[in-house]
Formats: sequence, C-alpha cells, structure tokens
Amino acid sequence: MPAKTLVAAVALSFASAVAGLNIILTNDDSWASANIRATFTALKADGHNVVLVGPAVQQSGRGGTFVLPTSNITAPGGEFGTIPVGAPFFGQDLQNQNLWYFNGTPAATAAFALDIIAPIHFGKPANQSVDLVVSGPNEGNNNGPFLYTLSGTIGAAYLSVERGFPAIALSAGNNTHRSFTTNTGAKTDPANLAAAVTAQLVTALARGVNTKKQRLLPLGVGISVNLPLFGPGNNCTAPRFVASRMTGGAIVSQLSLDPVTGFPVSANLVANGVNACLNGNCKLPGETIVSATCQTVVSVFSVDYDAPTVVAAPVQAHLGPLFRGQ
Ligand SMILES: *[C@@H]1O[C@H](CO)[C@@H](O)[C@H](O)[C@H]1NC(C)=O
Ligand SMILES: *[C@@H]1O[C@H](CO)[C@@H](O)[C@H](O)[C@H]1NC(C)=O
Ligand SMILES: *[C@@H]1O[C@H](CO)[C@@H](O)[C@H](O)[C@H]1NC(C)=O
Ligand SMILES: *[C@@H]1O[C@H](CO)[C@@H](O)[C@H](O)[C@H]1NC(C)=O
Repeated sequence: MPAKTLVAAVALSFASAVAGLNIILTNDDSWASANIRATFTALKADGHNVVLVGPAVQQSGRGGTFVLPTSNITAPGGEFGTIPVGAPFFGQDLQNQNLWYFNGTPAATAAFALDIIAPIHFGKPANQSVDLVVSGPNEGNNNGPFLYTLSGTIGAAYLSVERGFPAIALSAGNNTHRSFTTNTGAKTDPANLAAAVTAQLVTALARGVNTKKQRLLPLGVGISVNLPLFGPGNNCTAPRFVASRMTGGAIVSQLSLDPVTGFPVSANLVANGVNACLNGNCKLPGETIVSATCQTVVSVFSVDYDAPTVVAAPVQAHLGPLFRGQ
C-alpha cells in the first residue's frame, strides 16, 4: 500500500473511532470501585457519552439475581462510605451528574439504568439512545461457563443482552477490592490498565459502525472479556487480544467435607460438562487457559441457551412418545 493511502486509512479509522457512543457503564463491585471509575474516565476521554450506574454496595457473585430495593440506603451506607445511611435508594454524585448508584443487584441495576436513568440522561428511551452496555471491569476473572452464570458483572451484561442491547462484560485478573480514591493516577495502576484495555476494545467494536443504522452486536449476542493480572512486580501492561471460547480448561466447584470443621469446602475442578464444546468454533483456545498469561481473551456469547439441533434431536426423539402423549 502506498504511504499516502495508509495515512488516509489511518485518519479515517481515527475519525470513526472518535464518533462517540452512548454507553451505560455498570459493574458488580459498586459504583465507587477503582476499575469502574477509571473506565468511566477512559471512555469519556475517547469521546463517548457515558453514564455510570453501579450498585450502591459490593454485589459480587450475584449472577443474574434480580433484587430491587424496598428501602432507602441502610447501615452501613454505600460502598467505601460513598453514600450516607438514609439516602434515597438511587442517586447521583453531587460533583458529577454522570455518576449514579442504585441499591440493587447488578442485573437489577442494569435494568434500572436502561429503564429509568437512560431516559433522564439521554432524553430518550434506552432503545432509542443506548448504543452499548459495558459491565466492569470486574475485580477478578470470570472465566468459563460456571463463572459466567455466577458473576454479577456478567449478570448485568446478559440481562442487557436479553433486553436487546449490545453488551460487553469485562473481568480483570487483579481481584483487589479498592475504592476509586486509591487510584494512583499512574498509567500502570491496575485500574488504569484495565480501563485502557476496555477503551481499546470499545474503540475496536465501534470502528466503522454507524450506530444510527446498525447494531454494535447481533441481537441476543454479547461479549465476555477476561483481562490478565495487572499489579506491582508484574510486567504485563499491554496484553494482546485473543479470540477465545468459554469452554476449554474451565472450572466448576467440587465439594468435600473439611476433616476438622466438618463443613463443606469448595475446590476448582476442570470437569468435562463445563468443558463440552457444543456451540461455536471448538478450535478457539479456552479463555481460562489464555487469560492466565499476559493476554486478554474475548469470547462471544449468546443468551439462547437451547442446545444445537444435532445435540438436541436425539434427546427429543427419545422423548418422542412423551410428546405424542403416550
Ligand atoms: C426515601 O427517601 C426519599 C427521598 O429522600 C424520601 O422521600 C422517602 O420518604 C424515603 N422513604 C423511606 C421509606 O424512608
Ligand atoms: C422502544 O420501546 C418502546 C416501549 O418501551 C416501544 O414502544 C418502541 O417501539 C421501541 N422503539 C424502538 C425503536 O425499538
Ligand atoms: C492488584 O492491584 C493492587 C492495587 O494496585 C495491588 O496492591 C496488588 O498487589 C495487585 N495484585 C496482584 C496479585 O498483583
Ligand atoms: C515478564 O515477566 C515474565 C515472567 O516473570 C518473564 O518471563 C518475561 O521475560 C518478562 N518480560 C519482560 C519484557 O521483562
């Protein structure tokens, strides 16, 4: 390619990259977590119109559980002391009107963001304004189908996909639960590294798409991203992206009884059920294995949980007499 054309192409892709998206940013670690606030800043810096709506308190591990508030904020108040006891069940940061909390589970928070906050913020119903829901980056990885269902961060994303919105869930390797006030401001702060990876992915997704005419993702489809571990003494700062799948090296819990306490204890088991490749491209590497190295894995999921025809047909045939009422 002649140099001139290359320059033109670069300029063009830059121009489309800065066409701002209307983004709802949510998570499960609360509206005050270092990762979500750093990501808010990074997405704003890329020219996106971002409204952050996060749970009032830590809601890790809630999956798609849908719990709505029935009272105002109760003791001990919002995460990291951000919301006083007795404050309304949802509210806004006084200094920044794009930052909201809601006292519900992550999936419920995503629904509140779409149904109540989006119309306030964008002046239109979500289905006429929101281009993308970004959930995370979570404090800790969520690799494989078992953690997909368990993670509140992914729960908010699959709720959004079920509602018809393109959504991305991101889960970072560093699992330290920290307030945005602990962000060092350094580029190498794990929250800022996770935010940079998130912004990079959103730019790639938006490139060349006119969201007034086209969706960012097909209906019923979302993306689950797992970022590697960032932290002091770890030289991973610019992980490359790898297309991955949810199965392959994935874990599920196995229980045993503790000989001392008598209580059940959980261990990670790489079981065959959670690793059965039934959908998609089975040649892609498993996200669990790859995200353990300095790479960011990108798995495309759908919320159609039906088994593929080839797998379901023999089961349906076997149950044929039942369906025929015999
Ligand atoms: C919740 O807070 C709102 C706004 O401050 C207030 O109007 C309402 O009375 C409160 N509700 C309860 C049950 O405390
Ligand atoms: C958006 O949703 C409303 C109902 O909530 C519906 O009446 C309207 O047709 C939808 N618009 C689009 C563009 O899908
Ligand atoms: C995660 O990030 C925190 C905050 O920078 C850091 O203190 C911690 O060491 C990191 N964890 C790991 C395992 O690197
Ligand atoms: C980064 O750390 C890994 C593991 O400690 C090491 O193998 C690798 O050589 C380091 N890379 C650089 C560029 O320092």
